[in-house]
Amino acid sequence: MNIGVFDSGFGGLTVLRALLEKLPGQDYVYLGDTARLPYGAKSQATVARYAVSSAGFLVDQGAEYLVIACNTASALALDEIRAAVPVPVLGVIETGANAAQASTKSGDVLVIATAATVESHAYAAACKQRGMRAYEKACPLLVPLVEEGWIEHPVTEEVLRIYLDELLAESARAGLRPDTLVLGCTHYPLLRAQIERKLPAGIRVIDSADATATQVAGALGVPAPTDDPQSERSFYATDSVEKFRKLGTRFLGQPIEYVQLIDLGG
Ligand code: DGL
Repeated sequence: MNIGVFDSGFGGLTVLRALLEKLPGQDYVYLGDTARLPYGAKSQATVARYAVSSAGFLVDQGAEYLVIACNTASALALDEIRAAVPVPVLGVIETGANAAQASTKSGDVLVIATAATVESHAYAAACKQRGMRAYEKACPLLVPLVEEGWIEHPVTEEVLRIYLDELLAESARAGLRPDTLVLGCTHYPLLRAQIERKLPAGIRVIDSADATATQVAGALGVPAPTDDPQSERSFYATDSVEKFRKLGTRFLGQPIEYVQLIDLGG
């Protein structure tokens, strides 16, 4: 099976990393639409247009199953993508909400994400469908900080402290008793340790990468990993392949040897 993984940038490599752990024997084609990133500050129509052209590209490369690793594209454009391509498409909002459901005891969850994802209320709707209450907060400064490589950095620490203090105060005012925080953006798993350090004990941090990989494995009925994984991996980006290789290695947790530059237009 050739699995296509799409993200606006290299953050979706955290999802590919989980897929490679769970399903090492499959072929993967990854596209990061780095020229048009960030999606999280754009309108629904623009995100849908970009995501549909990106999904089409992956299918043209032979993808038989698509994972939309980008939370913003999953929140704003999943229906459009599904309508545009002839292969099954899985988004990360549903899998993130499933992971939250498995984690929470109080039924109240916090979600941090891009402005576009929060404005869509896709997480709140998916949580409500599963009997949970979600309080969502946009953290628009985090993507550029991670892109800059400012992971262990005093500015990032301070920005996180402000966002998380606000989130806890706002959710308390709204009457929630959260025990779970969903990292609703591909970039945030890189800040996981810093986020966990700033939260009160009793709030568990989850991201959708593992839940997504588990769901793909279930959907494909793929056998357990073998000792000798043989996986073809192709990486495409719409902007600087050097930056993709450098930052992508950090997200994937292993070196990326070769990235091909492609042009999907504006
Ligand atoms: N991939 C996006 C997401 O998960 C974050 C980066 C962007 O804004 O494009 O929401």
